[in-house]
Formats: sequence, structure tokens, C-alpha cells
Amino acid sequence: MKLSIKRQKESREDNTAVKVEVSPQQGLMAFPGFPLVLVGVKDNIITVAAVSFFSFGKAPMVMIGIVPKRYSFTLIQESEDYSINIPTLELLEAVKFCGTKSGKDVNKFEATGLTLQKAQKIKSCLIKECPVSLECKIVHTIDLEGSHVWFVGEIVAAHKRKDYDRSQALIYWPREYRKVGEVIEN
Ligand SMILES: Cc1cc2nc3c(=O)[nH]c(=O)nc-3n(C[C@H](O)[C@H](O)[C@H](O)COP(=O)(O)O)c2cc1C
Repeated sequence: MKLSIKRQKESREDNTAVKVEVSPQQGLMAFPGFPLVLVGVKDNIITVAAVSFFSFGKAPMVMIGIVPKRYSFTLIQESEDYSINIPTLELLEAVKFCGTKSGKDVNKFEATGLTLQKAQKIKSCLIKECPVSLECKIVHTIDLEGSHVWFVGEIVAAHKRKDYDRSQALIYWPREYRKVGEVIEN
């Protein structure tokens, strides 16, 4: 540990290791990325990277951020629920399609060949080809008049393909699609 701190000190003499002030936006962009998911709202699909766990415990909760101008925003406001579906690399073209085309103009299931699956406990659709689907009931909405409105959902049912492992999930942060990185300790 000491050695590595010494090395860090030495490298501070190198200009690239000096921290300079950047804008809050640039600071935000320093995150390595967020899980990339397909959200089912009613019978529409929207690609979402604004996704996070919200709470563990007996009633696990997640949250998704939707930009108010989206067609899916109108749908989710009318809905009591949504599904989170985790896509893998083979579904990347469908992910891009659902992230650029609007359900207002096109049926995304028909256009991508994805299969609509009925959920057990919610009304919104699931996506059969995604190896993980979480059924979420909206329990809270957070609207601070920022870029996204956040919908906190309690996971009321979860479905996972037996051969899925989370290294197959995808990561996104503006204009960059990534695979999950290597495990460095477990
Ligand atoms: C990789 C990727 C991630 C995205 N993440 C979000 C997001 O987190 N929230 C959001 O509102 N829109 C996000 N979008 C944009 C919507 O998916 C996109 O505007 C979509 O066409 C909206 O569909 P709709 O009109 O059927 O609602 C993302 C798009 C892409 C390509």
C-alpha cells in the first residue's frame, strides 16, 4: 500500500496526474457507465440507462429515470408498473432500435422481432428474449424538475434464465456501449 502511494506521489509530478477543475457536467461524465436495460411500459419498449438499485432487503426496489418528453413517459404516468429486462450482446441492435424509435410511430415488438411475454403480477409487458425480467410496481415518483423523472419500483416478481450470469449484461454511458469488465476480487 505504502509503495503504491509513493508511486502516486511520483506520478503527480507528471502533468497528466494533476486534477484540474472541470464543469459539473464533465464531472458527471466521469462515471464509467450504467447498466443498459429494456424497460417495458404497457406494451411499449424503451431503452434505458438511467437505472439503479434503490433498496435491498425484504422489498427490493429499483428505479428508472425517464425524460418527460418521451412517449414512454406518457405511458408510465398512466401505468402502475413497468418491467426491467436485461439484454445481452445479441440483442444490441434491438436495444439501439428501441432507444431511437418511438412507440408512438412503430410497434417495437413487430419491428425488432422481440417477443412480448405476459407478466405474472403486473400489466406491463416482459421481453421473452432477455434472460432476466423484473416485474416492478411503482411505489414512488421523484420529480425534481431535472432532466429525468425517477420511478421507484418494488420488484414483485423476477425471472432469470438458468444460464444467465451478470457478466453477460451491457453497460452504457453516452455514445459508448461496453461489456462488463473483469472480476478483480471476489
Ligand atoms: C443507450 C440508450 C440509453 C437511453 N437511456 C435513456 C434513459 O435512461 N431514459 C430515457 O428517458 N431515455 C433514454 N434513452 C432514449 C430513449 O430510449 C429513446 O428516446 C426512445 O426512442 C424513446 O422511446 P419512446 O418514444 O417509445 O418512449 C436512451 C437511448 C439509448 C440509445
